[in-house]
Amino acid sequence: MNESWIAPSILSADFARLGEEVVNVLNAGADIVHFDVMDNHYVPNLTIGPLVCEALRKYGVTAPIDVHLMVKPVDRIIPDFAKAGATYITFHPEASEHVDRTLQLIKDSGCKTGLVFNPATPLNYLDHVMEKLDMILLMSVNPGFGGQSFIPYVLDKLRETKRRIEASGRNIRLEIDGGVKVDNIREIAAAGADTFVAGSAIFGAGKESDPNRYDSIVRAL
Ligand code: DX5
Ligand code: ZN
Repeated sequence: MNESWIAPSILSADFARLGEEVVNVLNAGADIVHFDVMDNHYVPNLTIGPLVCEALRKYGVTAPIDVHLMVKPVDRIIPDFAKAGATYITFHPEASEHVDRTLQLIKDSGCKTGLVFNPATPLNYLDHVMEKLDMILLMSVNPGFGGQSFIPYVLDKLRETKRRIEASGRNIRLEIDGGVKVDNIREIAAAGADTFVAGSAIFGAGKESDPNRYDSIVRAL
């Protein structure tokens, strides 16, 4: 069984102080930095690209960076993220014309791979590519924004995904993204997730004066 990882989503961080925010959250016990890339095409929002990933590396961030691509098309941007210091690169299969080719491109770039499933996307994209996966990311909100509520039916999907991972005999991380909070993280862990993205629960606006805000979710697990 994989050890649990907390993956703060920097989407909810203060971008004017991003390096400092990331260092603080890692010092508080976070394991991996979740880096949301949105293109105003695949999802209706626009965020950050390889330059910001590279800037975090230059700032001294050595923790793994988990690049969640919500972009279409996918392939062109992969080598740029690999050069910028990404550790994992995950993408939505609906956004790729050739899922196997995109997975291979990530591997050939020296990064770890992952497929991302929107709440209503069926798991059958997994049928033929388990051998190429290091991570499976289940979205528990529709992608595009932080601060949404966890969709409860994703718990069943987590259990099913966990079954598939176990049947494969491979060591694949199972990540959950969206609406993860102090009060539901244990239930989500019990359903099989081992990697927990949390954005607004960690960097939530209005909580800047709370020195414990970075580690509350780490302690809840
Ligand atoms: C949404 C992003 C998430 C988002 C999660 O499309 O993929 O990573 O930041 O934010 P919270 O934890 O606030 O739901
Ligand atoms: Zn994400």
